[in-house]
Amino acid sequence: DKLFEVLKKYGQEHIIKHIDSLSKSEKDIFLKNLSSMNLELVFNLHDHFSKIKDLPVKKHREIKPHPIIDIEKLRARKNEILPAGEECIRKGETAVMIVAGGQGSRLGYPYPKGMYPISPVKGKSLFHIFAEKVCALSLKYKVSIPLLIMTNPETNQMIKDFFRENKFFGLDEKNVFFFNQEVLPSLTPDRKLIIKDRTTIFANPDGHGGSLKAVWKSGLIDRLESHGIKRIFYCHIDNPLVNVNDPVFLGWHIKEDAEFSLKVTKKRNAEEKVGHFVMADGGPSIIEYIEFPDELRNKRDEKGNLVFWAGSIGIHFIETSFIRKLNKDGFALPYHRQVKKTKLNDKEIEVWKFETFVFDALPFADRVCCVETLREEEFAPLKNKEGEDSPEEVKKAMINFYRKELTEAGIKVSPDVKIEISPLCDLEALAHKLKGEEIKEDRYIE
Ligand code: UTP
Repeated sequence: DKLFEVLKKYGQEHIIKHIDSLSKSEKDIFLKNLSSMNLELVFNLHDHFSKIKDLPVKKHREIKPHPIIDIEKLRARKNEILPAGEECIRKGETAVMIVAGGQGSRLGYPYPKGMYPISPVKGKSLFHIFAEKVCALSLKYKVSIPLLIMTNPETNQMIKDFFRENKFFGLDEKNVFFFNQEVLPSLTPDRKLIIKDRTTIFANPDGHGGSLKAVWKSGLIDRLESHGIKRIFYCHIDNPLVNVNDPVFLGWHIKEDAEFSLKVTKKRNAEEKVGHFVMADGGPSIIEYIEFPDELRNKRDEKGNLVFWAGSIGIHFIETSFIRKLNKDGFALPYHRQVKKTKLNDKEIEVWKFETFVFDALPFADRVCCVETLREEEFAPLKNKEGEDSPEEVKKAMINFYRKELTEAGIKVSPDVKIEISPLCDLEALAHKLKGEEIKEDRYIE
C-alpha cells in the first residue's frame, strides 16, 4: 500500500498500469525489486536538480590550492615516515577495500570490469592482480590483511563465483568479504521511472561514495574493528597500478593524524577530466572537472605551471571511526546528478542517474592528508574501449612501469619487449638472480 501511495504521489501511473498487467509471479518479482529501492529519495533529488539550471551546482566564494605533500618532500622524508606505516600494517590494523560495483558502461565488457584480462603477458584479470597484491603484502608483513570487495546486486554472484573458481587467487577465503552497494532507480528528465523489462525498472548503483554507507551497513566496520582494524585502504578496481596499502602514504596519514587521506597526481593537461583537490571556502574539497571554473582550470604560475594541478585518482586511507561518523545521523554524502544516454528497446533515451562520490567525504573530515604520486607509477585506469584509458593504453602503462622497476633493480630490458612482473615477485632476489642478464624476449616474471 505504501509503495502504491508513493507511486501515486509522484505521478507514476504508468508503473501502476504496468503492475496491473503482470501475472502473479511477475508481480511478486517486480514489487520486491521496486520496494527494495528508495523511490522517494530519487523523486526528491529529481525535484532538487530540476530547479538548478546552471553549473556549478555548488558555488564557492573562494577556491585556493590546498597544501600537498609533493614528490620531493615525500622522497626526502621517506625513511623517516616509512616505519610508522609498516608498523601499522604489521600490527594488523589495516584492511583493503576495492570498489568494483560500477557498471563499466564505457568499456562495454559483458562481465564485471574486475574480470577483464588486463595484464600484458599473462592476461590476468584485475581481480587476480589485486588479490595477489594483498597476498604479497600479507606474506611480507606476516599478517592477514582482510580484502573487502564492493559489488552491486547484479554482479555480486558472478564475482563471488569468479573468486571461488579461481581459488581466491591464493588468498584465504575467510579473509575476503564481498558486500553490495545500494541501487537507485534512474529517471527520465521528466521524472518518470523507466520500465526495463516486465519485472524490472532501470536502476543504477549509487556511486563509489555508496561504499562508505554499504560497508558500514553490512556490519563489516564493527567486525573489522573488533579484530583491531583501524583504517581502510580504498581504491578502484579499474587501476591495476595502485600501490596497495602503500606504507609511506600510510605513514603520512598516521603522522598527520588524518581521518581521510588521498593521493593526487599532476593533471596531464588543463583539460583532463579528473576531480580537482583544492581548498574551497577554507576547507579541503574535490571539485569535479565539469564544475571547476574555466579561469582556474587554466590558471598558471610565473613558471607556467598549472596552479590547480592536483587531480584526484581514487586512492585513500580512511579511518574506520570516520566511516562511522559519516553514517551516524543518516548518510552524510550529497548526491550528484549524472545525465547519461542509454538504449531502451533500440531507442536512445536520456536518463538521470543519482550517485554519491567517495571524495565528497573530504569536507566532513577533521583532518585531511594529501600526498602526490606519479602517474606513471600509480595511475592507469581502464575506462574506455578505445583511445585514452583503453586496454591498450593500460597495458602499455603496465609494461612501462615493470620496465622501470627492473631497470631500477639493475636489470636490463631490450626495447619493445613485453614484460609483466607478478605482484608476488621479490624484486631484490630477482635482481640478484638476473644480475648482468638482459631480458630480450617477452617475459612473465614470477
Ligand atoms: P567510474 O566512475 O569510472 O565508473 O568508477 P565505471 O563503472 O567504472 O565506468 P562507467 O562510468 O560506467 O563507464 C570508478 C570506480 O568506482 C567504482 C567502479 O567499479 C570503479 O572501480 N564504482 C563506480 C562503484 O563501485 N560503484 C558505482 O556505483 C560507481
